[in-house]
Amino acid sequence: MKIAIAGAGYVGLTTAACLCELGHAVSLVEIDQTRIDALQSGICPIYEPGLPELLDKHLDTSLKITADLSQALEGADILFACVGTPPMATGAPDLSGLRRLLGDLRALRPLSADGRPVVVLKSTVPPGTNRWASKRLGGVLPVVSNPEFLREGTAVYDFFHPDRVIIGSEDRAAGELVASLYRDVEAPLVLTGWEQAELAKYATNAFLALKLSFVNELAALCDGIGTDVQDVLTALGLDKRIGPHFLSPGPGYGGSCLPKDLKALMWKARRIGVTLDTMRSAEKANVRQRERLLQKVLNGVDDIWGKTIAVWGLSFKAGTDDVRSAASLELIPKLLALGARVQAHDPEALIAFARVCPPERWPGLVLCGDPWRALHGAHALLILTEWPAYKEAPIEQIRQHLSGNLIVDGRNLLNPERARATGLMYRGVGRK
Ligand code: UGA
Repeated sequence: MKIAIAGAGYVGLTTAACLCELGHAVSLVEIDQTRIDALQSGICPIYEPGLPELLDKHLDTSLKITADLSQALEGADILFACVGTPPMATGAPDLSGLRRLLGDLRALRPLSADGRPVVVLKSTVPPGTNRWASKRLGGVLPVVSNPEFLREGTAVYDFFHPDRVIIGSEDRAAGELVASLYRDVEAPLVLTGWEQAELAKYATNAFLALKLSFVNELAALCDGIGTDVQDVLTALGLDKRIGPHFLSPGPGYGGSCLPKDLKALMWKARRIGVTLDTMRSAEKANVRQRERLLQKVLNGVDDIWGKTIAVWGLSFKAGTDDVRSAASLELIPKLLALGARVQAHDPEALIAFARVCPPERWPGLVLCGDPWRALHGAHALLILTEWPAYKEAPIEQIRQHLSGNLIVDGRNLLNPERARATGLMYRGVGRK
């Protein structure tokens, strides 16, 4: 099929490269000329395992990059909208990118259009948006909801191995056309209506946020009792009704999706007078989880003023250079404000972090290209991201490099007994 995709963010880019891999011809439309230039010169603008290889394979053959929507739409059967929907101050997602795209489409395709392309909303949008989009297109072009479930860091894998494919449509033929794109992907298909599909996406991310806040609170309870959370979680995960995934305690969920989608869902509920107590609590618990981690550092270091804290991990999770809503962005400024010096390392996210927290504007902040350099003269090590290199770091070497003896392991990567055996004071998340 011939497909146009608007938006070369991580969803648009991944979708484009993977659809090419499935044999389709894709024109990817992007408004940011710097991004277009990078892509056209073979540079993948985001860190996403497997993506550069796919782009390299398909660029200039089945994948074209352009700034021109009308050119991309020539002969296109389907147009995917993969534009960003960032949160606004109210929690409502900003749909201006989508509004602009639909306006451009309308201008290019007057009402006499032939029902092509089918417009697919992949961006995460509140219930009612597909219906609104359909109206904006005068009901002439079919609109289909096809939410994405691509985790950053494993987006390419997730595209080919989804838990399900959701298609929301009021037009059966259009829904089936979009479903046929995934013919070679083995996954249950949920063919449903617009609002159900939109809500299924939000419900998934909201439930994941709930699950993590529950797990983090359980870990806090274990800290209080003085017992270890790991076996409790193993037992919990063996219950088929709960499942073993997404049960790792941490520094509180981050990223561009869970926090944003929870806020958007609560905003939507507020507007229609529905109270979502569990979701409000999940958000509150997430804020508290970060405070708890900071408190572990403060409790373990005598007077933080003038002390050096090493931080390992700046991205919101391993496998990505994305720092949006990362624990690092909250905790490092707090440590600096309390008079600490921070030496931080990340294997991929130093540049992204420096863009938001430039060291020249944050006296006391040093970004290190080498994890061991970050430990020099440090009184404590705070681990915030579960990068494999940190998990594999020899504990004796950590002991030798640190000046102080405190490790606050915000991802439970290290072995507490082995850490303590070297004389380190180990504080995990619900670890004994
Ligand atoms: C999330 C969803 O998992 C994807 O299905 C969805 O497509 C995507 O949002 C989206 O809406 O676009 P992502 O934001 O990449 O994906 O991150 P997750 O893997 O869900 O992790 C979210 C946060 O939870 C991270 O900070 C991670 O470190 C944390 N987490 C995750 C834990 O603390 N413990 C866990 O066991 C799992």
